[in-house]
Amino acid sequence: AAATRYEAESATIVEGAAESNHSGYSGTGFVNGDNVVGSYVEFTVDAAAAGTGKIAIRYSNGTADARPADVAVGGTVVSAARAFNATTDWNTWATSTLTTPVKAGSNKIRLTSTTANGLPNLDYLDV
Ligand code: GCU
Ligand code: CA
Repeated sequence: AAATRYEAESATIVEGAAESNHSGYSGTGFVNGDNVVGSYVEFTVDAAAAGTGKIAIRYSNGTADARPADVAVGGTVVSAARAFNATTDWNTWATSTLTTPVKAGSNKIRLTSTTANGLPNLDYLDV
């Protein structure tokens, strides 16, 4: 089935804010997570059936260093300290794709920064 898009600016943001001061994003903006350990964005994603879900995360990282974040589904970390490598500048976006088990119905997908550099800027999830 075609992916459904979940904009980060519509997700639950803890220690961060929706912003639009860079270009190239989808929707009305992106999320700038605070540059601290533990800032997170949580998406509520619907799955038609239990199984393996493909999750594409669109992000930007205008610094020289990776911005690692834990990716958790339903409270279980499925990708620990996922790298989110540099994208040259904050107007350039990249997509990081993983597969993970999902349950039928609602799934909470949370990206949490694991270093004091914080999250990459987050645009959306395609699931
Ligand atoms: C800059 C940039 C933000 C980004 C931040 C960061 O301030 O404008 O969009 O989130 O750097 O380093 O996290
Ligand atoms: Ca930030």
